[in-house]
Amino acid sequence: MDQDVLRHAPLFSELDDESMTAMLAMMDRTVLKRGEVLFHEGDSADRLYAVVDGKVKLSRVSAGGQDSLLAILGPGQVFGELSLFDPGQRSSTVTAVTDQVELASLSHDDLLVWLDGRPSVTRGLLALLSGRLRRANDVIGDLVFADAPRRVAKALLDLAERFGQETEEGVHVRHDLTQEELAQLVGAARETVNKALADFAAKGWVKLESRGVIITDMERIVRRAG
Ligand code: CMP
Repeated sequence: MDQDVLRHAPLFSELDDESMTAMLAMMDRTVLKRGEVLFHEGDSADRLYAVVDGKVKLSRVSAGGQDSLLAILGPGQVFGELSLFDPGQRSSTVTAVTDQVELASLSHDDLLVWLDGRPSVTRGLLALLSGRLRRANDVIGDLVFADAPRRVAKALLDLAERFGQETEEGVHVRHDLTQEELAQLVGAARETVNKALADFAAKGWVKLESRGVIITDMERIVRRAG
């Protein structure tokens, strides 16, 4: 397991070596292949996970039976904290979207004991929850008030922030999502999202790839998202 990813994960980066070693000793490793489900929405919950390698999607089935994507998480990001502080069922389904996903996990019971006397990690978990609530509020607001191209531009920026790599052509964002999954993340019909992307591409703001995009004019995308 690549321990460096965990050592640099925002949640654990404040820990001293001794605490980190204790945490790593309690962790289990799980490997998933693309399309494999770690757990389903509604399952009972007893572990917190951190992504070590690859990406996962967090999804929910809406009342109409359609999938919506809450988030895509990659290396260093943590999930499974909602059921830690509010015990009950998993609030989303977690599925691997890259060929291979490696996860490190910790039982909620072990974590709660371990958190005693480590306020920096507790504060980190609160910051994580607050950030997720803020983002969820933004998404709700955008679903009501923002047009689909704006939501597409915002989703590209969010993915670029975490997965983007600077290249000569622009920021290369390998999101590993199918067109359908990208549409589920944006919360619009696949045709609508494809049309927005094709329009951005025609204007020279992005170059489209299979499961990725190169943002060639970041300024325009930022303006479209604003
Ligand atoms: P839990 O409910 O234990 O299992 C599913 C996890 O998905 C949940 O904890 C959170 O870690 C994560 N999750 C749920 N909703 C969101 C969201 N809106 N944004 C990011 N992560 C989320």
